[in-house]
Amino acid sequence: MHIEFLSMANKIVLWGYMGSGKSTVGQALATQIDYPFVDLDTHLEEEHSQSIASLFQSHGAIGFRKIEQEALQQVLKMKSSMVISLGGGTPCYFDQADILAQHPEVHVFYLKYSPKVLSERLFQERLTRPLIAHLETQELLEEFVAKHLFERSSFYDKAHHTVVCDQKAVEQLVLEIKAFLHQ
Ligand code: S3P
Repeated sequence: MHIEFLSMANKIVLWGYMGSGKSTVGQALATQIDYPFVDLDTHLEEEHSQSIASLFQSHGAIGFRKIEQEALQQVLKMKSSMVISLGGGTPCYFDQADILAQHPEVHVFYLKYSPKVLSERLFQERLTRPLIAHLETQELLEEFVAKHLFERSSFYDKAHHTVVCDQKAVEQLVLEIKAFLHQ
């Protein structure tokens, strides 16, 4: 069933730190409201036939952010309604947070977790993530995440809605997002 809260195309954007389940929640939400789903990281990997880690390596951190920005602009130009999950850093570069928050077709949700839960969720999979692969213990990871999240919060807080996520199941998060969309 399509949500009929606006007549024009709707782009429901999920942002938040690495490990906050943007892809899982985005996919579940898209299925439930019958919207197409775009995961920006997956879109980038497919476009460039390279993993995110290897894009970071071959283009450098700033080169990666430029590629990411271009990919997001392309997706936003698509005419249809959709759910889009961003990479954790996407809204923190090139005014992307303001551009998205002020875009007439875009509804932004911030999936917000505490640094403690994020570091628990990220520890086992950190080796595939270029920004945290070097952190050897969960304590070091939590320290890094707390500082990094603090630096990024001013961008994440520009979302139209914040969904507090600690201890909630995916189903619950989808319900909360749908409730916001129906307001
Ligand atoms: C990044 C998050 C990653 C990916 C890249 C950089 C970040 O996406 O885009 O490794 O800067 O937080 P996910 O948040 O989907 O893991």
